[in-house]
Amino acid sequence: MKPEIFNFFTMLVERASGISIKSGKEYLLQSRLDELARTLGYRDHEKLYEVARTKLTRQLLDQIVDALTTNETYFFRDQHPFETLRRVIIPELKKKREREKRLRFWSAACSTGQEPYSLAILLREYFPDLVKSWHIEILASDISESALKKAREGVYNQIEVNRGLPVTFLVKYFKQVAAHWRISDEIRRMVTFKRINLVEPFPVMHQFDVILCRYVLIYFSQPMKKRVWENLCRALAPGGYILLGATEIPPELPADMEKKVLGKTVCFRKKD
Ligand SMILES: C[S@@+](CC[C@H](N)C(=O)[O-])C[C@H]1O[C@@H](n2cnc3c(N)ncnc32)[C@H](O)[C@@H]1O
Repeated sequence: MKPEIFNFFTMLVERASGISIKSGKEYLLQSRLDELARTLGYRDHEKLYEVARTKLTRQLLDQIVDALTTNETYFFRDQHPFETLRRVIIPELKKKREREKRLRFWSAACSTGQEPYSLAILLREYFPDLVKSWHIEILASDISESALKKAREGVYNQIEVNRGLPVTFLVKYFKQVAAHWRISDEIRRMVTFKRINLVEPFPVMHQFDVILCRYVLIYFSQPMKKRVWENLCRALAPGGYILLGATEIPPELPADMEKKVLGKTVCFRKKD
């Protein structure tokens, strides 16, 4: 890939999404852009470059960003954060929010939906009383429209349901449709999907009791990571928790946040 093309696309994508693609990833960038170019009816990434350089529309920019996101995910990813939610965080919040009877969750980079659906299944399975008589909101957002489309459909292939999903939950909460598995309406209805770009000012929202922001800050430059992290902390209700990916370390903790190690899970709590 020509250096000027690499520089053009990496700058474009970093400005639009925060995703920082370092040199050494030329091959990855080229193969994804070649694929997008062909989908749009262009010869290859060089032709796409010409088009993007001369008449970049909002739609094309979104398609380029979409093509360069990494949507790797699976049900109950890493297991232990979901254990911690089940054993510690949700029981604690249940006591704390007894009066309001309301809990708000945000899966802030939900990819193709496995993360928010895992949370919805966990709530339905282990906290049926909350699901039945409390206001439980699960907002799931991502920058990638194609990931969100799949998430909204809630249809997964055999390989996807084999990754992380206990077979008892597969049987209970999915319906087999030919070679695929469709998530049940009762679970799908618990989740609201929305396109939110984390590097832009967040839309006006309520504060959340739990924010899952897992395996996305790793793609951002340090200054961008810091900005998004501060916005996430502001979006958290007092007593609420942020969970990052297992190996992710936040830039720095604002004075009103504390680090908590709960079993194997490192999480970040807003002081009351
Ligand atoms: C590796 S996936 C992680 C999915 C899920 N959180 C998990 O842990 O399994 C990263 C997701 O972050 C999304 N993403 C990247 N940049 C983003 C941004 N600026 N705003 C919102 N989502 C973004 C990607 O589209 C992708 O779906």
